[in-house]
Amino acid sequence: MSGEQPENAPTSRPDHSPQERELHALADVVAGCDSCRLHTARTRTVFGEGSASAQVMFIGEGPGRQEDLSGRPFIGRAGELLTRIIEQGMGVSRSQVFIANIVKCRPTVELRGQRDRPPEPDETAACSPYLQRQIDLIRPRVIVTLGGPATKFILNTTIGITRLRGKWGEYGGIPVMPTFHPSYVLRNGGDRSPLRREVWSDIQQVLHRLGWPVPGKSS
Ligand code: URA
Repeated sequence: MSGEQPENAPTSRPDHSPQERELHALADVVAGCDSCRLHTARTRTVFGEGSASAQVMFIGEGPGRQEDLSGRPFIGRAGELLTRIIEQGMGVSRSQVFIANIVKCRPTVELRGQRDRPPEPDETAACSPYLQRQIDLIRPRVIVTLGGPATKFILNTTIGITRLRGKWGEYGGIPVMPTFHPSYVLRNGGDRSPLRREVWSDIQQVLHRLGWPVPGKSS
């Protein structure tokens, strides 16, 4: 793939499918995007990664510092927890799902600042055609939204995540399961957080909907 950040592309096989080719082309467009103020401070765009034919798509808020530096989604502490949720909780590898964010550049409190913040509505609006296209190309069977901002955006609601988590919603005909953001779980006790049980219950609903076995449980 040509462009600024080839390693930022979705996982691909040598025989690229049309979806993979379109995702690569879209990643190139995103790499050059200057549609909102976030582009001025980014190191790299974070397009998303995973299988172009994923049955499950995870959607987070926006890249943090490590993601901005690497160009890959969810690779910091929150990413480690998300990876455990996918690999241990769902019994599949990270590369079998698709992981994206509602914005592709890191939102910080001050541009070039250290602290992350949720994306502003105009930033989300500017980036939304990219996410929409990713969803259209991948056509996952289930979308899992991670945390309030992603859930509010995908479900077009102002209701908070605490009320929405664990309840199926819908986006363009695709079932959506909102759950807590891994960073929120980490901030609220990490491995000992009571929120983990709720995330686990949400993920079990996803497994059930997909007809996938619960890891470690004989059928
Ligand atoms: N948090 C997110 O919402 N997305 C990332 O990619 C990393 C952390």
